[in-house]
Amino acid sequence: MATKRTVRQHERRTMKTLAIDIGGTGIKAIVLDEKGHPLTERGRIPTPKPASPTAVTKTIVELAKGQGEFDRVSVGFPGVIRHGVVYTAPNLGTALWKGFNLVSALTTKLKRPVRAANDADVQGFGAIQGKNIELVITLGTGFGSALFVDGKLVPNLELGHHPFQDHETYEEQLGGKILKKIGKKKWNARLSKAIKTLDRVLNFDHLYIGGGNNKKVTLTLPEKVTLVPNTAGLLGGIAFWKLGADDPMNRWVQAKHIQTGTSKRRSQSQDKKSQKG
Ligand code: BGC
Repeated sequence: MATKRTVRQHERRTMKTLAIDIGGTGIKAIVLDEKGHPLTERGRIPTPKPASPTAVTKTIVELAKGQGEFDRVSVGFPGVIRHGVVYTAPNLGTALWKGFNLVSALTTKLKRPVRAANDADVQGFGAIQGKNIELVITLGTGFGSALFVDGKLVPNLELGHHPFQDHETYEEQLGGKILKKIGKKKWNARLSKAIKTLDRVLNFDHLYIGGGNNKKVTLTLPEKVTLVPNTAGLLGGIAFWKLGADDPMNRWVQAKHIQTGTSKRRSQSQDKKSQKG
């Protein structure tokens, strides 16, 4: 049995990762040890409205304060993000976020190294086995997706925005808003159809379903489909820090350049402008 002293020694020695999950309704944070085990209780603050880069960054700093000490930071972002820079943010406001270097901004604010990827990609790292073709979908405010081939990610796969049926996308047919409107029964029937279509197209060996609304899944799932706890979205954050130095994934999750004073001022003024507009 671990004594208090050995627990304290472990806490001192282990590299602590602050894992952040930015969602459409809540922003969550937890500190993980090197193996990805939680060291703190998960913190959650509702996503600010409007969810501008400034407001979200501020919320993350507040959450970080409540989590104690950490050495590095992982972020799951609900949109396309490459090299730290946001390309889309459908449920926060792409107009507010496009071009914002989230990794640089958080590195400056939190004074620790930061890595970031799409939220479904992070969730995927927390769910997969690392073998064969594994697909992850997340059912929350948006419809997230991540595809892994023998544990290697295809970054920023946006299946959610692909037309599914009746000229509507997976997100329009299965996202959080429509679930409220059509109810659980119809939503589950749609989900069942979506699983079949996705299998026909991607031929996955396993499908993991995460996200806050996976609680609403009542249909009998095929054997190769499982529900994963929403906490995978935070636990997957450890994966970025386990990549070998020559892993190509490193290029996707880190900022190419740390923001300079000028580009920081520019993105802040962009942020203000888009908040006004
Ligand atoms: C975004 C995805 C994201 C998903 C879940 C979608 O609207 O396009 O990037 O993974 O929502 O947050």
